Amino acid sequence: MDIKEIQTIEHDVLVVGAGGAGIRAAIECAKNGLNTGMISKSLLGKAHTVMAEGGVAAALGNVDPRDNWKIHFRDTMRGGKFLNQWRMAELHAQMAPDCVRELETWGAVFDRTPNGLISQRNFGGHRYPRLAHVGDRTGLEMIRTLQDFCIHQGIATHMECTALDIITDGNAVSGLVAYWRETGRFVIFKAKAIILATGGGGRAWAITSNSWEYSGDGLGMAFRAGAELMDLEFTQFHPTGMVWPPSVKGILVTEGVRGDGGILLNNKNERFMFKYIPEKFASETADTEEEAQRWLDGDKNARRPPELLTRDVVARAITQEVKEGRGSKNGGVYLDISSRRPADFIKKKLPSMYHQFKELAEIDITKEPMEVGPTLHYFMGGIRVNSDTQETNVKGLFACGECGAGMHGANRLGGNSLSDLLVFGKLAGLGAFEYVKAKQGPHKINESQATAFIRRATDILNRESGPNPFLVHEDLQSVMQNYVGIVRTKEELEKALQELSRVKVQAATVKAHAAPQYNPGWNEALDLANLLITAEAVTRSALIREESRGAHTRIDFFEEREEWLQYNIVIRRTANGQMEAQKVKREAPPEELAKIAYAKIEDLEAKHG
Ligand code: FUM
Repeated sequence: MDIKEIQTIEHDVLVVGAGGAGIRAAIECAKNGLNTGMISKSLLGKAHTVMAEGGVAAALGNVDPRDNWKIHFRDTMRGGKFLNQWRMAELHAQMAPDCVRELETWGAVFDRTPNGLISQRNFGGHRYPRLAHVGDRTGLEMIRTLQDFCIHQGIATHMECTALDIITDGNAVSGLVAYWRETGRFVIFKAKAIILATGGGGRAWAITSNSWEYSGDGLGMAFRAGAELMDLEFTQFHPTGMVWPPSVKGILVTEGVRGDGGILLNNKNERFMFKYIPEKFASETADTEEEAQRWLDGDKNARRPPELLTRDVVARAITQEVKEGRGSKNGGVYLDISSRRPADFIKKKLPSMYHQFKELAEIDITKEPMEVGPTLHYFMGGIRVNSDTQETNVKGLFACGECGAGMHGANRLGGNSLSDLLVFGKLAGLGAFEYVKAKQGPHKINESQATAFIRRATDILNRESGPNPFLVHEDLQSVMQNYVGIVRTKEELEKALQELSRVKVQAATVKAHAAPQYNPGWNEALDLANLLITAEAVTRSALIREESRGAHTRIDFFEEREEWLQYNIVIRRTANGQMEAQKVKREAPPEELAKIAYAKIEDLEAKHG
């Protein structure tokens, strides 16, 4: 193979991933005059962003004027069990309102309050109604807006193009090898900076809200290029995915259902969440039906119903109910809004949920409860970045959105993903712009690196025989589902590592048949390397963290342990290509931010409301 014959495309910045974070980053680069390219594994706008249905979190204070960025920051830190990167949580809470307003000026049509402001709804862990929304299609509206806006910014969009590996020049990026899914042909992108916005790796589990694209590509590529990963033990199981019928298991049921008054019931018709209120939240959470009802009736001073506790708490409670035999007929619990809200309210506020259940499960949610259970939804961990610029430890390599680590700590609050992608997409774009401006000299493409990446991909087609990539993927998913789930133990995690080594051997010799054009087996085989890095990184991190914090629950270390608050778990690639996971000491929090995070709510409202 002569590398000179491979198609080459040159940009100042290449954005990998065309979900909300990627598009927002690309817009910022293009606005600043950079020649910007964006590649997308599927079609522009086909992204997990649409799975954040219920809203984008921003302290606009439209529905409750007591809200402000400090209270949003405080909620985010508490939700993340104080393991969040302080600076990221600060930037996020401060910038989110302007980012939402900016999106509105680009054409997003949010629901309105009676006096014409952007409407905001309740969500778990948010003190006030804070989620600006468009019914239950907020992510979709955001991606539509970003997509429409970006195509007028002169960004070159390369669709159905899968990134394989990053080309480096010393410790800096200089390009990337990818292939067109339609033709199977390779392409080399030359770029001074690369922004990864590839989302998470939910496809490593069997039950997930993620669609086929989410195979941890950014994590895998960054790791192989020498970037550090962080906080990967924190994988969020959204409490409410569909459990029935089996073909749609895992599809998201928005938290907006609970935000708008829906309740969780077990098979004894008990509102079981009252039993699971953690001590820490007890003063803020209604512990009687009467008080929860007052909240539903609009009493702003009533404590919040326990269904709106953070996702980790609700997902664990559902798991416990099912385990103890109080689950629904198909292995979940019941989520009921029909007895709480009139049918026209439900159809107006939750139109997608109405249609989703009607069409997929033949359930009318205005008349009967839904069946729901936890589904792997989001990675809090990802690629380790600088909080202000989103740059990694590899020069010119940036990461934002779900594939970047740090903003959400041990657990993300619902709606903070959409604001995260706006804020950190913008900052990554600015970071890349500053980097490119300062960078001297032309791109240097290391041809032998590029050749090796291409060979690794073509070997899968060329070898005589080997395991079926789809079966290897299924095998990996059952390992993660069985041993690295919502609750974990040392024994199970060790077993998972053993099993992953076995799967790795299989994956190294998979065979895809036929030609490279639109070849699903080959596409699947190429995803496996990234899925395996993701799975191993999650498992190793989970094994090291000997405590339960946020979304990471160890039944052998059931408590949050103060000393672990000092550490992140960081994953690095060793000189011989192995994975190493280490405890890395965190910096002490800035005094001013610590004061806000631990303040009494009244103090923040009184001074800044
Ligand atoms: O439940 C939801 O609508 C999901 C939102 C999110 O993950 O932020």
